[in-house]
Amino acid sequence: MTRTPIIAGNWKMNLLRADVAAYAEAMAAAGPPDAPVDVVLFPTPVYLGLAATAMPDWTAVGAQDVHAEESGAYTGDVAAAQIVDAGASWALAGHSERRQYHGESNDDVARKARRTLGAGLIPVVCVGETLEQRKRDETETVLDAQLGAVLEVLAAADGAGAGAVVAYEPVWAIGTGLSASPEIAASVHGHLRARLNGHQAGLGDSTRILYGGSVNAENCRDLIGRADIDGFLIGGASLDPSSFLRIIRLSTGSAGGS
Ligand code: 13P
Repeated sequence: MTRTPIIAGNWKMNLLRADVAAYAEAMAAAGPPDAPVDVVLFPTPVYLGLAATAMPDWTAVGAQDVHAEESGAYTGDVAAAQIVDAGASWALAGHSERRQYHGESNDDVARKARRTLGAGLIPVVCVGETLEQRKRDETETVLDAQLGAVLEVLAAADGAGAGAVVAYEPVWAIGTGLSASPEIAASVHGHLRARLNGHQAGLGDSTRILYGGSVNAENCRDLIGRADIDGFLIGGASLDPSSFLRIIRLSTGSAGGS
């Protein structure tokens, strides 16, 4: 099965208004890649509307987090409907920084992913083990629990045609400069795909599984060369548009970009 690659940039809590505008200009100037790829940017919520308006139409914009409830007294949080209203079409659920700093459990992540999907957004569910868990040989147990909690949502996303997306982001590789080797990443992706296929025939074959964790222009080609790696969720190397465009170009074999 052919799965369209995804190259996504998670800006986390970085960039100001002027940076977002300049980024959009750089993307527009580069023009669309001449290879099939979904390009998605995840700004902070205050700039979702700006990014959705300013970015060229061959890109999409997504939220870094969505509240699990539809609306109500949740000071500081953002509802899925508001994210859609701001012009976004994707949303992350369960990024490790949300799990770590906001205590999000597997169940919380599943509720968020369900709300995301219900609002018509494409959910990108993030999973990944810590270094301690990997050293204790608990990687598959941890990933199975994280993925297990969202299997129903991923199956529903698949059935609804919106497409299910999983991002494998080992915590030890995030922001450390220490990317997982293509062998490690491919082996985990293969495991996740098998688990998805085990839940529902074909779900693993249609689900796009991204790798995230210190992806850059130097390592992206070796990683995406692996059959089970369908693209990237990029943090630091997505903050500069020329770096992000270079990764798009190298990963897709596209001639576009600056
Ligand atoms: P880095 O690319 O900075 O390691 O971040 C990865 C990440 O957490 C993307 O969501």
